[in-house]
Amino acid sequence: MRLYVNVKRPAQKRDFMIYGHFIEHFHRQIYGGVYDPGNPLSDEDGLREDVLDAMRKIRVPILRWPGGCFVSSYHWKDAVGENRIPMFDKAWRVEDPNTFGTDEYIKLCRKIGCEPYICTNAGTGSAEEMSDWVEYCNLETEGQYAKQRIRNGFEKPYKVKYWSVGNENYGAWEIGAKSADEWGRLVTEAAKMIKHVDPCTELSAAALADLDWNVNLLKHSGQFLDWISIHGYWDAIHQTNDYADYDACMVYTNSITDSVRKVRGLLEAMGLGRIRIAFDEWNLRGWYHPNVHTVKQGITREEYLYPRDKNDDNTKYTMADAVFTACFLNMCNRNCDIIGMANYAPIVNTRGCIFTYKDGIVLRSTYHVFDLYVNYLGDEVLESWSEENPVCALKSISDTLESVEMIDIVATSFSDGSGYALAAVNKDSDKAHEFELHMDAAGEVAIHFISGDSTESYNDIGCSRVEIMHELLGQYHPGMKFMLRPHSVNIIQIRADRKSI
Ligand code: AHR
Repeated sequence: MRLYVNVKRPAQKRDFMIYGHFIEHFHRQIYGGVYDPGNPLSDEDGLREDVLDAMRKIRVPILRWPGGCFVSSYHWKDAVGENRIPMFDKAWRVEDPNTFGTDEYIKLCRKIGCEPYICTNAGTGSAEEMSDWVEYCNLETEGQYAKQRIRNGFEKPYKVKYWSVGNENYGAWEIGAKSADEWGRLVTEAAKMIKHVDPCTELSAAALADLDWNVNLLKHSGQFLDWISIHGYWDAIHQTNDYADYDACMVYTNSITDSVRKVRGLLEAMGLGRIRIAFDEWNLRGWYHPNVHTVKQGITREEYLYPRDKNDDNTKYTMADAVFTACFLNMCNRNCDIIGMANYAPIVNTRGCIFTYKDGIVLRSTYHVFDLYVNYLGDEVLESWSEENPVCALKSISDTLESVEMIDIVATSFSDGSGYALAAVNKDSDKAHEFELHMDAAGEVAIHFISGDSTESYNDIGCSRVEIMHELLGQYHPGMKFMLRPHSVNIIQIRADRKSI
């Protein structure tokens, strides 16, 4: 394969928020995950310091919270101040003690240095309740909610910039689901009130790659929106936990851009090109929560509650997850003119990249993909094209044979002028692939990569089979050949200054 990179064409700066994350009040993401008061590994605020350190290392730029389906019957006022009111979470059918609320969430964001991004309750909630939340977070002293924040010990406003109205309110599974027409009206009212409270907020609303839903939403509310939220889970195993195998996961990469393409076309057609996409929930794997997210509700806890523990099986998060995650991040970089934010769902436990247990954490294979992209790849995306990309026929989840290109590469430059970096993914389960690089550049070449010893490599307590490796490859010259290991994610840097490699 030959790759051509046009370093003369102006590069497109990507928004760092494409490396964002999501955390929900589901299973052990919050309680027993990042928030674990009483654990000796936790700080004075009950936050796990080992988790905070891991989140800092991948430079989490933005963290969406508190849901997800959870939020559609969540009332934020029950979770601030001295007297927290435990709620029965009707989405996930468990009690939430409400001891982790807005103030604890803001502390978490401040400690990891990320932007907060709050998703509001557009299920059972009202436009007023949503805008009251903005008052609580963002007003100096005006009104009862800012005064309540001050009484709770938080003098200064939090200035939460990013807000979204609702979560998947289009879905029958969502509490307080809405029709397209109802949705457009509610978002408009919520947007008016939120923007009246704080016009500096940036607002998104739940959407999907569906024409009717989005046309209604944008006709009613387009003038108020800065973002449009979409979600994607490709291996939809919420009810079965029957993981797609490696090749089927590679077939999923063929559809990784579909929803972005559709939403892009709609926004352009409606003259709303200033609205950007927040892909604010995505993961190869759907979360396993049988008999709760469907009309068929489990009767016993064995049917609907205890099976959630199976999300904690670290052996299931392999190079398939890592390679898919890298292809998704490549897609975000390629479409960085319209994708301004993406949130890996979730960051801690469930299908997340950081797994917690009482005495420590496991950095799953996907964690190292984020480490590679945020710490080794450039911040400007260059025009590139390839010739003779190797293609394989792979079996999809439905046993059809699909053609899949084996190599996925994005070329970037560093805006500080220190050089270039390629994110090069080899999806092939057993073959290494070589490519020839044609770009006008100079400097020392280094490759930073993960591959594991097989497609099934994973990390778990006491075993680490997927770690970032580094190699120096000498001086770059045009036409230089690079070998990509099977099932590998590689960042190839060409840096003028060797120290920065
Ligand atoms: O499976 C988890 C759920 O997926 C999230 O709560 C929701 O937003 C999406 O449907």
